[in-house]
Amino acid sequence: HCFCYCFKHLYFQEKRENIRSLTMSGHVGFESLPDQLVNRSIQQGFCFNILCVGETGIGKSTLIDTLFNTNFEDYESSHFCPNVKLKAQTYELQESNVQLKLTIVNTVGFGDQINKEESYQPIVDYIDAQFEAYLQEELKIKRSLFTYHDSRIHVCLYFISPTGHSLKTLDLLTMKNLDSKVNIIPVIAKADTVSKTELQKFKIKLMSELVSNGVQIYQFPTDDDTIAKVNAAMNGQLPFAVVGSMDEVKVGNKMVKARQYPWGVVQVENENHCDFVKLREMLICTNMEDLREQTHTRHYELYRRCKLEEMGFTDVGPENKPVSLQETYEAKRHEFHGERQRKEEEMKQMFVQRVKEKEAILKEAERELQAKFEHLKRLHQEERMKLEEKRRLLEEEIIAFSKKKATSEIFHSQSFLATGSNLRKDKDRKNSNFL
Ligand code: GTP
Ligand code: MG
Repeated sequence: HCFCYCFKHLYFQEKRENIRSLTMSGHVGFESLPDQLVNRSIQQGFCFNILCVGETGIGKSTLIDTLFNTNFEDYESSHFCPNVKLKAQTYELQESNVQLKLTIVNTVGFGDQINKEESYQPIVDYIDAQFEAYLQEELKIKRSLFTYHDSRIHVCLYFISPTGHSLKTLDLLTMKNLDSKVNIIPVIAKADTVSKTELQKFKIKLMSELVSNGVQIYQFPTDDDTIAKVNAAMNGQLPFAVVGSMDEVKVGNKMVKARQYPWGVVQVENENHCDFVKLREMLICTNMEDLREQTHTRHYELYRRCKLEEMGFTDVGPENKPVSLQETYEAKRHEFHGERQRKEEEMKQMFVQRVKEKEAILKEAERELQAKFEHLKRLHQEERMKLEEKRRLLEEEIIAFSKKKATSEIFHSQSFLATGSNLRKDKDRKNSNFL
């Protein structure tokens, strides 16, 4: 890594050395480039997307209304949602000649389920879905990123309950799962319910808990000298303890946004009462562009890298050699082709194997059938032979019987003749006696 960095450094230095600085003898006009950029941006308009994560009724809508000094017409959510849903609404706002397309995404039903283990998942999915939509637009042949409505979340305002104790497991789990995807600015909601000394302790406790759990929250940038000092100071005051209200109360001779209680008035824009102004300054006036930039260069870049790597694209091939998209594409195509051929071959072999198996089964069935047939044939033969034998015996019996019958007939006729002559002799004898 170190070597790589040194190499790059040297390379750029060498390149820079090849560039010569010249002085011009007159005005050319490219000093107006920043103005051109400003004009173009104003014409194009800006877009900013805020995600509010916090329990139902924690004061999300009131704070957003107070931040942008308007009523966004949000309705109360029910405490009985079976799961967390995200609701996005886009508005067009205008301040002097600057147009802002503002999208506010609310978590509906967050923290209301008995099992809160998966509460962060819909939020993660939503953020990823916006990145995916942008990536798909980028990957199109005919891109229209200029007119594309960028819905990627630029900041996540995480509303912490003003318990004065510590973060809840749900808070830690959610922030931990979101910190690599979005700029998180944690805020202590309804800060008017915590006393001043308790609030300081609470802030320190929260920050130490975030650090010990490795949750990366958004840090206001300190690389730009013009805002470095204020940003550094504000980083030390996180998380901001905020109070929201659209109600106006007369304080002195001025109407101010405040919450009125029987014992006094909490002024939203009074820095002695809460950090609302700090949040507004940091979020809208000073760092809105940085939040947009960080979203594109850090979070989206990470999503894009992971996604492309998942799809098999890399910048370096084996032996750390740089590979172009074209080469990766060719390699992938080759790999895919090979894989397809391998699969085809595998399927062919499987088919042949199946046919062989089926053939063997059929042959076995044929053999069994043949054996059965042989067996039946044998039985049939045996039966036939038995019957033949029976017939032969019967025929013999018939012959014997016929013989017997013939003999008995002869015998019978002889005995009849003999009986006839005897009768005649008896008669003659009787007649002679009579005479
Ligand atoms: P859902 O969208 O229904 O989840 O609620 P929400 O988080 O948008 O809360 P909402 O802004 O509707 O406020 C809920 C209640 O809390 C309202 O009665 C507000 O007046 C009150 N509330 C809002 N902000 C504050 C605050 O800073 N301090 C106190 N004490 N109450 C607040
Ligand atoms: Mg709301």
